Amino acid sequence: MTATLLLTVQLSAQTISSMNELKPEQKAAATDLRLTGKLSTTGNSDFRQMRDLCYQLHTADLSGADCEVIPNNAFHSRHALEKVLLPDNVKSIGSQAFFACTRLAQITLPKSLTRVGDAAFSSCSALKEITINGTPTLGEFAFARLSALRIVRVNSTTPPVASPSTFDGLDRKRVKLIVPKGSEIKYRKAAGWSIFFSAPDNENKLCNPQEAIVPIPVKIQTLEGTALTTERHWEVLAAEGLANECTQAERVLRARIPKLKNPKLAGHATLTLGLDPSLQDDEAYVLEVSAKGVEIHGKTAAGVFYGLMTFDQLLRGDGSSTCCEAIPQLRIEDAPRTHIRELMLDPCRTFIPFDELKAFIPEMARYKYNTVHLHLTDDQAWRIEIKKYPELTEKASARVGMDDMLVPISGYYTQEQMKEFVAYAAQYHVQVVPEIEMPGHEVAAIHVFPKLTCGAKQVPIRTTCGVSDNLLCPGSEFTYEFLGNVFRELADIFPSRYIHLGGDEAGNPALGCWTNCDSCKALKKRLGITTTDRSENWRLQQYLFDRMIDTLRTQYGKTPMFWYETDFKKIQPGCVTFSWRHGLTKQALQAAVANNAKIMLCPGEHCYLDYPMAAGDMPEINWGMPIISLKKSYELDPAWGMGEDFEKNNLFGVAGTLWSECINSPERIYYQAYPRALALSEVGWSPASKRSWDDFLKRLKPVLNDMQRRGITFSKQF
Ligand code: ACM
Ligand code: ZN
Repeated sequence: MTATLLLTVQLSAQTISSMNELKPEQKAAATDLRLTGKLSTTGNSDFRQMRDLCYQLHTADLSGADCEVIPNNAFHSRHALEKVLLPDNVKSIGSQAFFACTRLAQITLPKSLTRVGDAAFSSCSALKEITINGTPTLGEFAFARLSALRIVRVNSTTPPVASPSTFDGLDRKRVKLIVPKGSEIKYRKAAGWSIFFSAPDNENKLCNPQEAIVPIPVKIQTLEGTALTTERHWEVLAAEGLANECTQAERVLRARIPKLKNPKLAGHATLTLGLDPSLQDDEAYVLEVSAKGVEIHGKTAAGVFYGLMTFDQLLRGDGSSTCCEAIPQLRIEDAPRTHIRELMLDPCRTFIPFDELKAFIPEMARYKYNTVHLHLTDDQAWRIEIKKYPELTEKASARVGMDDMLVPISGYYTQEQMKEFVAYAAQYHVQVVPEIEMPGHEVAAIHVFPKLTCGAKQVPIRTTCGVSDNLLCPGSEFTYEFLGNVFRELADIFPSRYIHLGGDEAGNPALGCWTNCDSCKALKKRLGITTTDRSENWRLQQYLFDRMIDTLRTQYGKTPMFWYETDFKKIQPGCVTFSWRHGLTKQALQAAVANNAKIMLCPGEHCYLDYPMAAGDMPEINWGMPIISLKKSYELDPAWGMGEDFEKNNLFGVAGTLWSECINSPERIYYQAYPRALALSEVGWSPASKRSWDDFLKRLKPVLNDMQRRGITFSKQF
């Protein structure tokens, strides 16, 4: 029986020299591959192809391949991968190479291996057994968060060099370390290995508040006196109206202080939450630490919540463990520089399952983001249930393919789920802003209702990135009826006063969709538009926008938002525009000033977090994205040198985008977002006078350690 099974497995393995031998459909169908050639590691490498094109791959046999380097992120978050046989001559495994390969059960590291990169096997939650045949240096968090781990077998009498965090989260009671006879004592004493024998000493003694907090607060004043020890019986005392913050405070304490319930804890401490109407800003707070406890006062519940997020970072201390032992007495006064700090998610190109969508919120809230912008419709999918038009999600929420990835991508959010999401995000003081694109990026809706576009053209759902020439027809009354019905339902789901209408890339590059349409021609005639130099397109778009903006403002009390295009010139009163185009920020800001409008800063050269952070970083294959380094994100001046009046009258906030053409797993959203979203959080929150790149790097280290401990992936290439 066993022999037959083995034979079947062997027969079904496809043996190839390199991935380029397979056709795209073969890659999409591959489950079991044996590679025998010299493997490529950069660009559209054998590894990138295995990871992104072979979405069903469960066995990768590289034992016969010639490959000294398994690159960074080689199999990052490949949830189908069950088995990997490493090359015989492999020397190094890159950082996060097998991060969150959640089905990988066993791994043997060959003798040739000299290095296992940081977080290489972190969060492989099914990994039971590790065999190490040589003495590779093991990076930070290389085998962290392995909840199923039972056996670690090392065949060297000398312990491989390991970091104290290499096996972070190890459950000593369940994991057996097997080492050559007589060498136990060496392992018992070795850094990184002693964790198998006894609890590590907490190095995280006294928090240094100057090096603990991102975004940096307005004022931190350390005071004389006995420090507050953290392992105490904590009691939360919350003023009326702060029930949610009380629950959040208890969550923070539970997560940071593992022995919170231990009756032997030394003494009592209180965390007092209150409101102080004398504070200037709605999101302002004051946090005071004394030997007896902590007091947080906010102008509103939001301010109290931000005080709590700061307290959480003080508890985290230097990040070498979950919690520091003590916090010095101090007083922090803090308030944000801008009032909207946003991250934008795109569940259209790659669907984000509902639970993963929710999971994104607490992480962004830690860094005082207060808005999540959901891009719910585009050429590739319609992702929100509309009860009047059930066909939208029936026919336009599932497709196969995103550029060269022939992967089935499907899903949508029910209205119930979105209401739950809104309520959940509100607990973290994050508002949800929905976006319905118009008149471009709307092929999914046009696919379902061809009469939404000029000439009722039948168009397939788009499976590639880029810009479509199929636009909503501004000359057809059905367009307004459809959008009106959609917005009626959205207004009921999303309480945020903001609603995003898209507006980007419908006429830039100039598109021909509207030129020969009888309805559009009739509309032009009615509006007196006689130009034929394509400026007529912008005027038609403005007509469409004016009507929808009027509906949203008068019927639903909403503030419409849109992506700014330089041809708009006019910005309707009371609207918010987004400055996004690389190199065109100044023009957008000048238009905002000229129109007395608010503008969100998300210029491509600082804020497009879906772009790679360094050369060769993910996404290695893309449509030509420029590199946005962490420093570049950090350097954004949200006032763009426009001075105080601009900041006071026009600056709306700061946003980072996470378009998902190249983000093919929920984990990779975090990988793209962080650490650049930390830089942008400081751009949006902290006063310019407090910001310094070198200081930020110092404060980044504990944040990133904490993220790794909690299994949050991020790019390390900065
Ligand atoms: C955009 O990136 N098309 C707004
Ligand atoms: Zn038309």
